Amino acid sequence: MGQFNILVLPGDGIGPEVTGAARRVLDTVGSKYGHTFSFSEDIVGGIAIDRYGHPLRVETVQAAKRSDAVLFGAVGGPKWDNAPIRPEAAILGLRKALGLFANLRPITVLPGMEGSSPLKDERVKGTDIIIIRELTGGLYFAKPKRRWTTSQGRRGVDTLRYTEREVERVVRVAFELAQGRRKKVTSVDKANVLESSKLWREVATEVGMDYPEVELEHALVDSCAMQLIANPTRFDVMVMENMFGDILSDEAAVVVASLGMLPSASLAGLPRFGGGRVRTVMGLYEPIHGTAPDIAGQGKANPIGTILSASLMLRYSLGLEIEAEAMSQAVEQVLKAGLRTPDIAAGGVVVSTEQMTEGIIQRLV
Ligand code: IPM
Ligand code: MG
Repeated sequence: MGQFNILVLPGDGIGPEVTGAARRVLDTVGSKYGHTFSFSEDIVGGIAIDRYGHPLRVETVQAAKRSDAVLFGAVGGPKWDNAPIRPEAAILGLRKALGLFANLRPITVLPGMEGSSPLKDERVKGTDIIIIRELTGGLYFAKPKRRWTTSQGRRGVDTLRYTEREVERVVRVAFELAQGRRKKVTSVDKANVLESSKLWREVATEVGMDYPEVELEHALVDSCAMQLIANPTRFDVMVMENMFGDILSDEAAVVVASLGMLPSASLAGLPRFGGGRVRTVMGLYEPIHGTAPDIAGQGKANPIGTILSASLMLRYSLGLEIEAEAMSQAVEQVLKAGLRTPDIAAGGVVVSTEQMTEGIIQRLV
């Protein structure tokens, strides 16, 4: 039976509530299946700025490197909007320091949840997409990146640069995942304008040749943004540049009604699973939502995004596929039973963070 070290970084706002919920669910999974999850906690984001003057300490990065996986809440808040180093530097710094180049964001409309989406039920029914966002390069990280003042006024620059290697490794993750799914990859770019996108498209096509059974489609990011709302069920696995993925994943959240439902996994390598042999990779797991300062501490937060992130952690970093499946089944059942946090209220019984978590735990034991 396994013994796993998990670093929990709750962060700010509703971060502590949702990571606390996921920890309790993990403890339940641990006792049911005979694993020990040893949690250690540290502070990051705004709360770390207040205490240490920096959102991410070197010690925290070192602790993350020593752990099997990191469970992350959310960082930021109005209090630190004008801080010299913003709380968001914590998550960006961790992604870079841990080499988490592949960010998986599953966008799934669970059966019975169609009504919570502002889009028509028949349009969203059956949506099952994984967005793979490149996470350590592109517009977020490439240099030059700076602001300065000239005699003609202020200037600012960010750079969109990719190497062949950076594109290849993330596109390969997309093909590997597609093999175990509906065998379709949509590579998103802006190759009609951007040179980095022309490279992206070329490399994606080359990687695709190693996967003849997977269909590869190239799509321009602007028309893709439209298709994602107009016809979400046409997509299976999507892969794209860092900022394209930041934007399209928030947009895709509308299809499933609430950001609160959505998990993510940020991986440092290519996980392989299915077919008997599992290869796990270091990862950081976090809900897609932010710190929601307006509802922090009120028991209104939806813990499902974080609980499903913990389920992805079991699958990709700890190799516990059966346990991961049990966790997501428990979430499906609690939703089927009609339990709803306020963000997904439409027509269900409105419950607190605590009651939702209890409901999930009861369906696991
Ligand atoms: C996300 C968030 C982050 C990002 C912020 C908090 C830096 O929006 O994970 O999508 O832009 O990557
Ligand atoms: Mg974002």
